[in-house]
Formats: sequence, C-alpha cells, structure tokens
Amino acid sequence: MDFDEVITKRRSIREYAPGRSISEQQLEKLFDQVRLTPSARNLQQWEFIIVRDPENKKKLRECANNQKHVEDASAVIIAVGTKNLVLRAEMTTKDFAAKEALLAKLKDVSPEKAKVWAIQNVSLAVMSLTLAAANMGLSSCILAAFDPEKVRIEFGIPADYEPVLLVTLGYQSKPAPERPMKLGFDDIIHFEKFGKKP
Ligand SMILES: Cc1cc2nc3c(=O)[nH]c(=O)nc-3n(C[C@H](O)[C@H](O)[C@H](O)COP(=O)(O)O)c2cc1C
Repeated sequence: MDFDEVITKRRSIREYAPGRSISEQQLEKLFDQVRLTPSARNLQQWEFIIVRDPENKKKLRECANNQKHVEDASAVIIAVGTKNLVLRAEMTTKDFAAKEALLAKLKDVSPEKAKVWAIQNVSLAVMSLTLAAANMGLSSCILAAFDPEKVRIEFGIPADYEPVLLVTLGYQSKPAPERPMKLGFDDIIHFEKFGKKP
C-alpha cells in the first residue's frame, strides 16, 4: 500500500471477526516497524504486552469499561512506558562516552517529566502501530478509557512503568463505519502566529 492509502484506510474498528488469530510472524513484522518510531533522546521508552489468551482479553475488557471490542479482537496490545531513563540510556547507547554524556543530560529530568516523555513516546509508537497494522491489512482501535491501576495489577506491570494506551488488533467483520467529522485545514492551521488564518 502507498502511504496515502494507509493513512486513509486506518480507522478505529470495533467489530472484529471471531476466531481469527494473529501469528508470531505478523507480530514480528509489525513491531519491527514500530521500533523505528522517533523518541526523546532516542530512549525508546515503549514496551508492549501482547494479550491473545481469551481469559486475559476478558480480564482486560473488565479493566476497560467493559468495551466489547477488547474481548473480540484477535489481540490487544497494552502499550507501557518506562520512567527509568537511566536504565534506558544504558540500553540505547553503545559507546561509553555517549552513554556518559546522555546520563549527564538525564540527571535534570524530573520523575514528572520522565512520565510525560513516556506518554509522548508511547503514544507516537502506538500511532506507528496502527499505521503499520493498516498496511498489513489488520484493523485496530486505540483505547485510553481503561483503569491503569487495575491493568497494572492484573498484568503485573512494575511501578516504574506507566500503562499508556491499549490497542485492539484484528480482522474487521463489517465495513468501517462512516468516518466521523474531521476538522478542515482552516480550522486547525495558523500561519506564523496563533490566530493568523489563511
Ligand atoms: C488517545 C485516544 C483514546 C481513545 N480511546 C478510545 C476508547 O477508549 N475506546 C474506543 O472505542 N475508541 C477510542 N479511541 C478511538 C477514537 O474514538 C477515534 O480515533 C475517533 O473517533 C476518530 O475515528 P477514526 O480513528 O476512525 O478516525 C481513542 C483514540 C485516541 C487517539
């Protein structure tokens, strides 16, 4: 698919064909693209829990305001972000000098800021995930309406990680619903200064 088609085809899909599975191979291809997402200081704060077991999808649905598509999807991804920037710096820099320089810069990053970075970076990775999925013929839906603390307990997410978003993945059972209203160029664009319209 070319990019115009991918970005147009990606829709939030909530009706999934039952009994369809997503293979390890598909997941590997998908996440091999997701991992190329840009991130603050290249810290790649994202990690993903792939939930495919029906019992676990049921548990996740209960954590997500009982949203049915969480249970119906072939897989649900719990996208989490680490707030441990030092450990991430160790993992993402190869040579000693680069690591020391990065660690020095990270010293002034507050825990609040590390959490904001986690949310920003994981959100971008999730956007990559939905586009990469669309390109592979998979449908998806991002979800923020869930109880993060309940998800943390049920899925064993450590305290230094933030559950950021869920993403359903699967094969849609119906054509996508009509696209909801999207704002136009003039609604969202300002030239040079806020308020200066075309
Ligand atoms: C941050 C975020 C949170 C969302 N949360 C939910 C959700 O909890 N449940 C859901 O069904 N859809 C959720 N959506 C999907 C939106 O409803 C959807 O993107 C929007 O209606 C536009 O439709 P489209 O994605 O087909 O363009 C969320 C989307 C985003 C980006």
